[in-house]
Amino acid sequence: MRLSEFVFATCRAGSEKALKKEVSLQSGKLLTPAFMRPQLITWKVQAELPEDFAFTSLHAVVSGWSLGMARNAAEVAQIVTKTNIEVCAVHVFPRLISEDGLTAEAWAPVDALTEDLKQVCPISPEGGYILDVILGEVGEPWFIGCHPKSPTSHPHAGGLPRLTIPAEAPSRAWLKMEQSLSWLGLDRTEVLVGKSALELGSAPGGASWSLLQRGMKVIGVDTGAVDACVQNHPNYDHISLPASQLPLDYLPEKVDLLACDMNLAPDVVLKYLEPLCLRVKPRWLVLTFKMNDGRVEALMPYFISQVQRFAPGPVYAKQLHANRREVTLVSQAAEV
Ligand SMILES: C[S@@+](CC[C@H](N)C(=O)[O-])C[C@H]1O[C@@H](n2cnc3c(N)ncnc32)[C@H](O)[C@@H]1O
Repeated sequence: MRLSEFVFATCRAGSEKALKKEVSLQSGKLLTPAFMRPQLITWKVQAELPEDFAFTSLHAVVSGWSLGMARNAAEVAQIVTKTNIEVCAVHVFPRLISEDGLTAEAWAPVDALTEDLKQVCPISPEGGYILDVILGEVGEPWFIGCHPKSPTSHPHAGGLPRLTIPAEAPSRAWLKMEQSLSWLGLDRTEVLVGKSALELGSAPGGASWSLLQRGMKVIGVDTGAVDACVQNHPNYDHISLPASQLPLDYLPEKVDLLACDMNLAPDVVLKYLEPLCLRVKPRWLVLTFKMNDGRVEALMPYFISQVQRFAPGPVYAKQLHANRREVTLVSQAAEV
């Protein structure tokens, strides 16, 4: 159902041009750019959208219908009434989000506003839409949008779990892993306790440290040096070999989560991943594919389709806020 003449998408800092280019390649003349601010772009819809239209851009963090601007809660309520949508959640978030996330102080006014909006916008658990209220700089009206609730929609406002990198984390990959787990809904306490993980490209150890902190047993593969807090952890096993020489016989029959963060081209990564994935039959995949040049970026839909051949479930890909020139791919097996 068409809710507006315009659609919107948010993206990580610095990915605006890549997002615009990707949407132009995917949609041709169907969507033409209308409004562009740092980390937020809108497009005018030039014809009827296909019934199954979905925003599939890798660079879009949150995307949906653009519903207009508001300066206060009453104006937001008017927009919701006029659009005639049933809202199941209100997601308020700042437009400008750094790659390291937001501080607790930055979230405080956002939370206060969320509470105000819940008073004036009726929320129904059966509603099909998440209302997005995007806060710009001081004095700027709020941007209002909405997106359908779906298996791929991020559980957190703005696609951003409330995390800041702890000083003791061995690398920023801690945040990438934590943001990926939250996207998969695996950040709930206890879900990963006692489960196993295998990470290709584990040094210096931020992502493995996140998994260890969550109670997992981790095998890390990397020729690089691993930080002492990971290396000496009783639940960490370091295989200091390149992925090409990984002895499959040494690995357990099954691991629950297969992660890969090697700084290699995706076609090389795929060569190592496929036999490994078939061998250890993971329930969850968390992969980063590097986009170090335009060729790789253009071929990304192909690389993602290749992962779909051996993944445990549907593969979703997105550039998360903590990703730099890379995208995160996740997949999980259906619940049994
Ligand atoms: C982005 S870093 C990984 C960061 C790491 N995930 C963390 O949590 O700190 C990329 C890593 O891939 C590793 N790497 C590159 N080629 C590899 C290969 N063929 N086999 C195993 N590791 C490789 C590098 O040594 C490097 O440590």
